[in-house]
Amino acid sequence: MAPAAHYSSQSRAPIVSVVGAGNVGGTLAQRIAERGLADVTMLDVGEGRPQGVALDLMQSAGLVGHHRNVIGTNDYSDTAGSDIVVVTAGLPRKPGMNRDDLLQVNGKIVRDVVTQAIAYSPQTQLIIVTNPLDVMTYLAWTVSGLPQQQVMGMAGVLDSARFQTFIAMELGVPPSDVSAMVLGGHGDLMVPLPQYSTVTGIPLPELLDEAAIARLSDRTRHGGAEVVGHLKTGGAYHAPAASICKMVAAILQNQSQIMPISAYLQGQYGLEEVYLGVPCRLGCQGISKILELQLTEAQRSALHQSAQSVKAYVAQVL
Ligand code: NAI
Repeated sequence: MAPAAHYSSQSRAPIVSVVGAGNVGGTLAQRIAERGLADVTMLDVGEGRPQGVALDLMQSAGLVGHHRNVIGTNDYSDTAGSDIVVVTAGLPRKPGMNRDDLLQVNGKIVRDVVTQAIAYSPQTQLIIVTNPLDVMTYLAWTVSGLPQQQVMGMAGVLDSARFQTFIAMELGVPPSDVSAMVLGGHGDLMVPLPQYSTVTGIPLPELLDEAAIARLSDRTRHGGAEVVGHLKTGGAYHAPAASICKMVAAILQNQSQIMPISAYLQGQYGLEEVYLGVPCRLGCQGISKILELQLTEAQRSALHQSAQSVKAYVAQVL
């Protein structure tokens, strides 16, 4: 796939650094390399882990026909000049844990990772994945000193993909025919938006009754926990990696695509000084615009409740 005009005008290939070479990071590196989006530098605290994953991916290059360079390292100087840094470093959930149980331990990790990564890539775009997502994204923004347009969290793309999947399964249609939208925090307070979710252009409320929509919305809210419950060790990583890759492609190919992203709000939806999932335009400069949708009273109040919860956790970790 051809890179964007913005990046192809540079004399070198774009570089995406993935910090955390675990399940999500390793799968993301594979997707980026196989789509030909960028060279990938994987970094982890675990010695040998990123080197092993990178070598494994390079050994698959001839088989799957990818032409990207993937390296693994424990040294941040190898990430210098990254166009995008994706932070997947941290602990995942265990069965019975919610994302907020990871607050203190992952807060320390994200603070450390962002400080070191920014020292070598001061102009980078930063995509945060580590949970609890919206809190970690706020923390990363404050630690990085970057403009807020360049610091964003991945959650809404994944939550929307889960809603899309459950709608497709319910109606027996291909997921690609379904467009779904989920806003709010990446947690049990996320806000699925049926009126902005469509099947081949038909709004969801014309295809399913309220009870069915409520059931699918609820399954979406617990879509990650459902996977954790099956796996027992670790969390989901295939759909998360595909979701991050969609954001990476939108930036590198300057797509100006609209997708829900955890973004810094300054008055939109009546909310301020909080990172929360809202529809954004994403391109080579990062988030160029936050879109404000008409919400029902219940949805607006759920969004505010979600924001309050994120703010309370931010206060504990800053
Ligand atoms: P994992 O345990 O497979 O990988 C995490 C990696 O981070 C490990 O290799 C570990 O050595 C590394 N790490 C830990 N501390 C580090 C540090 N200070 N510097 C560099 N690397 C460090 O976990 P997995 O499944 O890849 O998940 C990673 C994170 O992403 C978790 O916090 C998880 O909750 C979150 N996540 C978020 C999603 C979202 O929608 N935002 C979706 C899926 C996962």
